[in-house]
Amino acid sequence: MQIIRHLADLRAAVRALVNTGAPVALVPTMGALHAGHIALVDAARARGCQVVVSIFVNPTQFAPTEDLDAYPRREAADAAMLEAAGAAVLWAPDVAEMYPAGFASSIEVSGVTARWEGEARPGHFAGVATVVAKLLLQTRPDMAFFGEKDFQQLAVIRRMVRDLDVGIEIVGVPTQRDDDGLALSSRNAYLSPEERIAARALPRALGDAAASIERGAPVAATIDAAKARLTEAGFTPIDYVALVDADSLEPTESIESPARLIAAAKLGRTRLIDNLAVGNVKSM
Ligand code: PAF
Repeated sequence: MQIIRHLADLRAAVRALVNTGAPVALVPTMGALHAGHIALVDAARARGCQVVVSIFVNPTQFAPTEDLDAYPRREAADAAMLEAAGAAVLWAPDVAEMYPAGFASSIEVSGVTARWEGEARPGHFAGVATVVAKLLLQTRPDMAFFGEKDFQQLAVIRRMVRDLDVGIEIVGVPTQRDDDGLALSSRNAYLSPEERIAARALPRALGDAAASIERGAPVAATIDAAKARLTEAGFTPIDYVALVDADSLEPTESIESPARLIAAAKLGRTRLIDNLAVGNVKSM
């Protein structure tokens, strides 16, 4: 696996991958890799792709109050995992390579960013959309793979790619979970042992709520019950638990078209998010 830090070298490496005749996939990450990221590489390889993985802790998607400096960085361990998973290229630019002096552009996606993470984290999705657009244009892959764990992010990226005629297939990969159901996330490392046990209430509350809604229970009361369960388990504040349309992320009471139950809440100092498909039509 080649480790590349400069754009000109990335372009040359991708040209060589294209010449093999296989499709090229990009898996954008911020490092601190876990089995959830490796599932993205596996999904790309299962589609017959040569895989480029980017690791870039993108400063523009962190609010001033968020954990940019504390965000875990362990490139050597990440590179070993990617090598074992069969990635062809690790694209690991530094901040000056991505945002040289004078950088002045930003991509704003409206609508789908208006609520939920967009409301809780002002500026976050402009940072994500801009860096993902850059990574897509730098690599120009056939496909790019993102986890469904960040469901709103996936919807924002799909919207941007559609709106700007980017012409790259965006593939969502199901969330990977620990044995007790907790979604894998780099942020789980911040949980104390007691919090880690309490955290399993999040997937359980969502799973039970999704099943109730599928059986026809009223949506608002079911969501209230899920919130009460989270509060009882020690989550505070609960930023949101909501049933949303899987494409627009607007609140919905219907599961006739693809819907998603989404949640974000804090346990101690760690903010956790999760989501589940609800209804008969499970995918976006
Ligand atoms: O999901 C992430 O790790 C990041 O938001 C992404 C897509 C790599 C953009 O920095």
